[in-house]
Amino acid sequence: MIANLYQPINGEIVEIIDESPTIKSFVIVPQSAFSFATGQFVELTLPGEGEAPFTPSSSPTVTEKMEITIMKAGRVTERLHNCAKGQPIGIRGPYGNGYPIDEFVGKHVYIVGGGVGLAPIRSLFLTLVDRIGDFKSVVCRFGARTPADFIYKDALLGPWQKLDGVNIKLTVDQANGDWSGNVGVVTTILNPKDVDIANAVAVVCGPPIMMKFATVNLLEYGFDPKTVYLSMEKNMSCGVGKCGHCMLGKYYVCKDGPVFTYDQVCKYPKIWE
Ligand SMILES: Cc1cc2nc3c(=O)[nH]c(=O)nc-3n(C[C@H](O)[C@H](O)[C@H](O)COP(=O)(O)OP(=O)(O)OC[C@H]3O[C@@H](n4cnc5c(N)ncnc54)[C@H](O)[C@@H]3O)c2cc1C
Ligand code: FES
Repeated sequence: MIANLYQPINGEIVEIIDESPTIKSFVIVPQSAFSFATGQFVELTLPGEGEAPFTPSSSPTVTEKMEITIMKAGRVTERLHNCAKGQPIGIRGPYGNGYPIDEFVGKHVYIVGGGVGLAPIRSLFLTLVDRIGDFKSVVCRFGARTPADFIYKDALLGPWQKLDGVNIKLTVDQANGDWSGNVGVVTTILNPKDVDIANAVAVVCGPPIMMKFATVNLLEYGFDPKTVYLSMEKNMSCGVGKCGHCMLGKYYVCKDGPVFTYDQVCKYPKIWE
């Protein structure tokens, strides 16, 4: 009998963490160990409601549970936000290509992220710090609308700042409360002197407008379009290269991506929509 491509495995939400007014992290225990590569995505099914694609935000080395960080955006994500601990959930995947970590070895990894785009970046970051000696450095430049909108605040403002080989700067569009960091969009904390660009790769993930302007800056600084990795979030349905909902030029984002170099996709219209 042919295995059903669309059959999810069962899992359960065991913990829910409030990250920001619109974003929650869900700790999910799959019925059987579930592995993925950092940057790959899963289709999460809420029984009776529907499914949507998400990139796990946890380390791929942990296979007995997985964390998924979800922004309330519409019908399924709103229903997920209303769930409680113990909620049964379906998981299918993992799908897509993930980040080519071995191509980053020996280089500076310059990561630019914003909003819920920090979800895949968290998984990538945890993967990189697990083998930090393999990279020249890991430099993170992250933005959020306001301090309250920053997700993973405890880690970002605490232990991650102290890791050897890691350099993190944060910015908010609008400051309030006791925020003493930079104020301005994420491009205001990018600097060509941050890394040796000839020996660096860049990873960009966040809202389309942020990805667009960050990429423009990185190219101006001298990053080769082949070294700028983008996580593309096209509307998806099947997740497995069958329905065509996610086409970007000749690519199926679900199968050939979601991680692409700028060089691969720059010739196609509407890549930032
Ligand atoms: C590969 C991939 C990984 C993703 N990872 C995450 C993640 O880790 N965390 C997270 O919060 N979100 C992630 N998303 C986005 C998430 O899938 C959508 O927010 C979700 O599908 C919305 O479903 P909904 O039923 O709540 O909204 P709907 O009611 O379906 O839609 C609400 C609005 O959002 C738009 N929309 C729906 N899906 C997308 C999309 N993929 N991109 C842009 N706009 C969309 C719709 O056009 C509509 O305007 C990811 C998307 C992709 C393709
Ligand atoms: S989501 Fe169906 S082909 Fe990509």
